[in-house]
Amino acid sequence: MQVPLVVYYLSLCVATLGVELTPKDWWEKAGFYQIYPRSFKDSDGDGIGDLNGITSKLPYLKELGVRAFWMSPINKSPMVDFGYDISDFRAIQPEYGTMQDFENLVKEAHRLNLKVIMDFVPNHSSDKHEWFIKSEARESGYEDFYVWDDGIPNPAGGRNLPPTNWLQAFRRSAWQWSENRQQYYLHQFTVEQPDLNYRNPVVVREMKDVIRFWLDKGVDGFRVDAVPFLFEVVKLQNGSYPNEPTSGLTIDPEDFDYLDHIYTQNQPETLDMVYQWRELVDQYQQENGGETRVLMTEGYTSLEILREYYVSTTTKKHGSHMPFNFGFIADLNRTSGAFDIVKVIQSWMNIVPQGHAANWVMGNHDRPRVGTRFGEERIDAMNMILLSLPGATVTYQGEEIGMTDVRISWEETVDPAACNAGEALYATKSRDPCRTPFQWDDSAMAGFTSGNRTWLPVGSNYRSINVKVEEAVTKSHLNVYKAMMKLREYKTFRHGSVKTRAYNDNVLAIVRELEDHNTYITLVNLGTKIEVLDGVGLASRLPSKMRFEVVGTSSHHIKGGVMATNDIVLLPYESFVLVAKLSHSDRLHEDICEVWLE
Ligand code: GLC
Ligand code: MG
Repeated sequence: MQVPLVVYYLSLCVATLGVELTPKDWWEKAGFYQIYPRSFKDSDGDGIGDLNGITSKLPYLKELGVRAFWMSPINKSPMVDFGYDISDFRAIQPEYGTMQDFENLVKEAHRLNLKVIMDFVPNHSSDKHEWFIKSEARESGYEDFYVWDDGIPNPAGGRNLPPTNWLQAFRRSAWQWSENRQQYYLHQFTVEQPDLNYRNPVVVREMKDVIRFWLDKGVDGFRVDAVPFLFEVVKLQNGSYPNEPTSGLTIDPEDFDYLDHIYTQNQPETLDMVYQWRELVDQYQQENGGETRVLMTEGYTSLEILREYYVSTTTKKHGSHMPFNFGFIADLNRTSGAFDIVKVIQSWMNIVPQGHAANWVMGNHDRPRVGTRFGEERIDAMNMILLSLPGATVTYQGEEIGMTDVRISWEETVDPAACNAGEALYATKSRDPCRTPFQWDDSAMAGFTSGNRTWLPVGSNYRSINVKVEEAVTKSHLNVYKAMMKLREYKTFRHGSVKTRAYNDNVLAIVRELEDHNTYITLVNLGTKIEVLDGVGLASRLPSKMRFEVVGTSSHHIKGGVMATNDIVLLPYESFVLVAKLSHSDRLHEDICEVWLE
């Protein structure tokens, strides 16, 4: 009798499983992709991306190999901060589509086995939100929805001065005077983004209801915005708030970094709020079934505090599944060497609490793109480093094809962070350059829209840097990215150990090993010199020859080619993954077993 091929392979798998591997939850090993909806794909020709545009491109995400995507806000918004100023937490921004379009997007994503993560923006609303309008009018029940304060008497007479020296993220005072209410309100971002008052239990309850609303719509989790800002310190005995001390980081007194934000960020209550939201999503899963609803939290903060976001060291309460690890974004740049990268990787691995998963964020809509931050020659290297690491990875749209920041003139500038900085400083603060339309093909407007204008200009390199062109050639950033994503399905990548080693300041090796499985070694040359190294000793029991598994675009090698382990040559900016295969042939198929079994 002929044994069907699949059954044969499956039995091989079972026979060779060897050590028991702890199963991983879907998000712990997932490739996440960030969509910036305004710039992903426009379906109706108005030059602004939308939900139907996203739905039409879900097969692309599937092909990339990602498991989940998170979308920057799609809620109703006056768009002062491009969606991060929400005027109705339960409605869809009309230029992005309708609730039905959203439901369709979720349905289609789930049909493709893709998870959908919403951006949840809890710290503030838009000043056009009905809560704020009512609060400003002191309507009963809404008086304390936001953080209001009289301010301090002005010795020179006239209107009171702002309550404290606190600064907003986009320059100048975090306090705005309301003529209507004759009080100041707190806004840690733009004037049009008043901070909600989390010391008011009604606000806490309302925002939990918002979470439930979207869970009921079928979303698989939340990326939680600006978490450190949720609570401010309690007022002093004399009824006033304390001033924040200076940081010494800049001499510009209007710049957010001028102060050390000890009273406006990461208060103990902030962490507790995250633990409460975790309880909520866990409970929701218990009551409604289905897979884990995941929380990923945004916070640029110290590793010690991020550790607390995972789990409280004192109460052991669980918090964020993924406190975003911004090491690659915040602590590294084009001047960083291999030793710096190793340090960033190891310091993160050291703080991940036992039993929790690591995560790695390579880019987002707030920071310059990888090719601009590290140099275009290092795009493959950075993507290969990211995708060689254990745990969850997060890629910002366009990084897989190597899009770079687009120069935006002052006249074209729309980001409030840049507009508030003024013409002289805008370029240092602007987030517009990394938010330009996604480059799908080499047709007009890069295939982003059928219209003849776009909300931000299309990058001038779109004729060569785009999905269509990169799909068609073997060596492209996109194909390197896809090949790396395939590797991540192998058990060595899912369950294996990780070792990082800097040979010198230019050469970095990431070694992934798992007993009885193939060993994979990612090697990158960050520099302009030819590097020759001896790979013996990088992993236990390496054969004398290894094979190329994935090669970067600046490599002249091909997949399957052979390299002597003791004489590895890396050309300038070359990066590749070598595989040391197990010698016994009956294990050849083992690596892909997991893909089938899941
Ligand atoms: C987060 C977002 C950023 C936004 C800010 C205020 O940092 O990523 O884009 O401007 O919060 O909501
Ligand atoms: Mg549109």
